[in-house]
Amino acid sequence: MPADPADLSLATTAVTAGRPAREPDAPLNTPLTMASTYVAGGDLEYGRYANPTWTAFEDALGALEGGRCLSFASGLAAVATVFDLVGTDAIVVAPRHAYHGSVAQLADLESRGRLTTVLVDLEDTDAVVKACDDAALVWLESPTNPALEIADIPAITAAAHAAGAYVALDNTFATPLLQRPLDDGVDLVVHSATKFLAGHSDAVMGAIVTRDDALYDVMKGRRDLLGAIPGTLEAWLALRGLRTLHLRVERSQANAQDLVRRLAAHPAVTEVRYPGFGGIAAIVLDGADRADLLTRSTHLWVHATSLGGVESTFERRRRWRTEAPTIPEGLVRMSVGIEDVEDLWTDLEQALDRAR
Ligand SMILES: Cc1ncc(COP(=O)(O)O)c(C=O)c1O
Repeated sequence: MPADPADLSLATTAVTAGRPAREPDAPLNTPLTMASTYVAGGDLEYGRYANPTWTAFEDALGALEGGRCLSFASGLAAVATVFDLVGTDAIVVAPRHAYHGSVAQLADLESRGRLTTVLVDLEDTDAVVKACDDAALVWLESPTNPALEIADIPAITAAAHAAGAYVALDNTFATPLLQRPLDDGVDLVVHSATKFLAGHSDAVMGAIVTRDDALYDVMKGRRDLLGAIPGTLEAWLALRGLRTLHLRVERSQANAQDLVRRLAAHPAVTEVRYPGFGGIAAIVLDGADRADLLTRSTHLWVHATSLGGVESTFERRRRWRTEAPTIPEGLVRMSVGIEDVEDLWTDLEQALDRAR
């Protein structure tokens, strides 16, 4: 008897969901369907509306998050589609230290009179709950990028729903393996699939997952109209990456937990930020110059933006003009990869010794 997918662990779901039907001569893996159009009269019709390779990725991520998934051209295309949900003059509550691209989108919309943004300190739950009162949309990101703050998701979601607001949560850092926000009542989960989901620093893609059929239809309608669709190859790569998500997240988290302990004892490090789970940490050095010296002094760790790949990367976030001014100049965000942890530490330690 076939296993009920709902009874499977997420590790098994990552491997099995979104496969072609099991029948003689069917490929095990979903092929790349390169098509701009389809023979009329079916469900697909045109390449901006649907693609079987996207569908396979959407089925797999939907199964992991526990909802219905839509894939997008990028994480920010998915974010923009969610912000587009609310009407003119709506109030959107968002974390002050959310990903700077998401905050920049809100600022851009506000500057054009489209909505009003209320930025909050995410860990001040009382303040966030109070801000929910007048909101149409509460945008959460937990952990935040790069401050690594954590939201009280159930409390904020309850307050937002009591006020009649939607709640959307950017789950890029945690992945569905470490946090399933739809189980806490969140309406929309958003991903930069570019990061852990695809996991190999070779594709840019985004996704939205929801259990609400009406919201799904609205999001799908926006995607059809705006054309913010992923490339077929990107969807295929992201699905291939998803197959090992559990192994990569487990190793990257174990490496991060080990490194965080060692980093806290190094004299060049004035602060370590780590939410206790996941593969992303941040350290604060005494000023931009020391942090820049660190990022120039490693052989294994690559100075690069983005995160969630198999390779360890790090970045001084305030090198971006648009990063929040409340993020310390010397903060270096670290995306811990799946290499050997001793090799990672040896490389980091010699670079930190230089940056003292
Ligand atoms: C938390 C988070 N959300 C969204 C995005 C945007 O995703 P993308 O670069 O795929 O558009 C990023 C990118 O760094 C991110 O870190």
